[in-house]
Amino acid sequence: MSKRQKALIAVLSVFLLFFGFVVTRIGVKPVNTVKAAKIPAGEYDPAVWGQYYPLQYASFKMMADQSPSPTGYGGSVKEQKSIMQPEILTLFKGMPFSKDYSEDRGHLYALEDLRESKRIGPASKGACLTCKTPYIEQAYNEMGWGYANKPLNELMAKAEHPVSCANCHDPETMNLRVINPAFIEAQSRRGIDVTKATREEMRSYVCAQCHSEYYFEPGTSKVVFPWDKGLKPADMYAYYSEMPSGFTQDWQHPDSKAAMLKAQHPDYELFATSTHGKAGVSCADCHMPYVRKDGQKYSSHWVTSPLKNLEASCSSCHTQGTAWLEERVKTIQDQTFQLQHTAGQNIAKAHQAIQAAAAQPGADPAELARARELVRQSQFYWDLLSAENSMGFHNPSQALSTLGQSNELAHQAIEAANQAAGVTRF
Ligand code: HEC
Ligand code: HEC
Ligand code: HEC
Ligand code: HEC
Repeated sequence: MSKRQKALIAVLSVFLLFFGFVVTRIGVKPVNTVKAAKIPAGEYDPAVWGQYYPLQYASFKMMADQSPSPTGYGGSVKEQKSIMQPEILTLFKGMPFSKDYSEDRGHLYALEDLRESKRIGPASKGACLTCKTPYIEQAYNEMGWGYANKPLNELMAKAEHPVSCANCHDPETMNLRVINPAFIEAQSRRGIDVTKATREEMRSYVCAQCHSEYYFEPGTSKVVFPWDKGLKPADMYAYYSEMPSGFTQDWQHPDSKAAMLKAQHPDYELFATSTHGKAGVSCADCHMPYVRKDGQKYSSHWVTSPLKNLEASCSSCHTQGTAWLEERVKTIQDQTFQLQHTAGQNIAKAHQAIQAAAAQPGADPAELARARELVRQSQFYWDLLSAENSMGFHNPSQALSTLGQSNELAHQAIEAANQAAGVTRF
């Protein structure tokens, strides 16, 4: 071999080594390196899937973790929300959320927490299982929406596994999929065919099928997402105002006698309309970041607060450093909590003011009706943010704007109650 040939080989080797390194660092999407194992349809046990995908399964089991969040909000500890916000007990008076309303924790606890919830009883419906277990696929295949009206206890006996691989993956191809029919139908009514979704969209859709606002259709208990007019709080309120399939209220507040709505965790709705959502970031980018073990790159399946691993969760896009990012999250959450707490206390006062006004002889019924409508809207806006799980982070400006409106509506409700009772205050 000539000197020139040797030099050429040396240069080429360095070149190959360098680019080989770059390609493994940024190029290969882990999903392409995975060979789909032959897992049969209807296999809901994550341990069986775990035999083929040990790294994903090991991180999946981390969801047993029960540590608090470093910011003091959320976290994975099962704790009553009314400890930080005692006004919750007044706001949900007369309905099960005043008895038991705890912080969420990891997916592994979804069935256990449902079983132990003081909110359920012999009259509870199968619909409650929709977002707790992959068994919902089988139930829907066998009964269609009929499962939703079956007694919860009867179905729960058949659901062995909480949220698992089959909720998000097709067992034969390992492609991402959604199985909650309520999500598929709601998207379809908006003109979105989820079978045509891009991979990026699926990285949020798999979460959106459960982390969204919904209600039970009267009579059938079918789960419906109120998205026909859009995903913003005002769009959803307008949807409910038209009383879809005769749905008028979740319960009547015993003090104010207002027809109330109970909002449920609109994580997807807030995220989808946020800076991150509009920039094409997905839920999985922050909650299931790429991590490495033994030289292998894979998606962390420890779905929890990103603050427990800020470096992996945010630093693929942000260069500001973890201390800056954590401070931003904490500031947004403190500001959201402060306004949420204030609005909540004013809504509690509004219920009381309406009750006091209604007890006055000769109270004006039109003004009372107006006060009840105002407190219904005010509490729905507050509840959307209170039930949302990120304490404002998923969409900081929407959070503050919605809570500001909620607070203003609570004052208007108190004003209308005073008018009804013939009291004028300036
Ligand atoms: C809540 C939804 C969800 C659940 C539950 C879930 N996954 Fe995933 N999984 C994802 C997402 C999102 C990705 C990223 C896919 C992509 O970007 O194409 C992923 C990727 C994967 C991949 C591709 C390689 C990688 O790491 O990116 C494998 C293999 C995998 N998951 C296995 C499993 C196994 C095994 C289970 C059950 C123990 C499971 N998953 C449970 C959402 C889920
Ligand atoms: C089948 C329904 C379902 C799917 C799919 C699902 N979740 Fe959840 N998620 C739940 C339920 C139910 C809980 C609350 C469990 C409890 O508190 O017992 C929860 C809890 C969580 C928590 C709280 C964890 C903690 O440590 O406090 C996070 C974060 C979360 N989910 C994010 C996601 C993300 C991100 C996705 C998509 C990659 C997703 N979830 C997909 C139903 C689901
Ligand atoms: C830009 C990053 C980012 C994106 C995108 C994102 N989240 Fe989050 N999420 C966070 C942060 C930060 C928190 C606050 C965690 C804390 O307080 O410890 C959070 C909190 C949560 C929680 C509560 C966790 C807990 O500890 O109780 C849930 C549930 C959740 N997100 C679900 C979702 C879902 C579902 C999506 C998509 C629809 C999503 N997130 C999109 C960053 C993100
Ligand atoms: C996939 C990329 C991506 C990831 C991951 C990501 N971000 Fe972002 N983030 C963006 C983009 C894009 C913007 C829009 C502004 C910009 O271009 O810088 C943004 C904006 C922000 C903003 C300012 C806007 C706002 O809504 O307040 C904050 C704060 C922020 N990100 C925090 C975080 C935190 C904390 C995490 C991790 C939990 C995170 N981001 C993860 C891409 C990302």
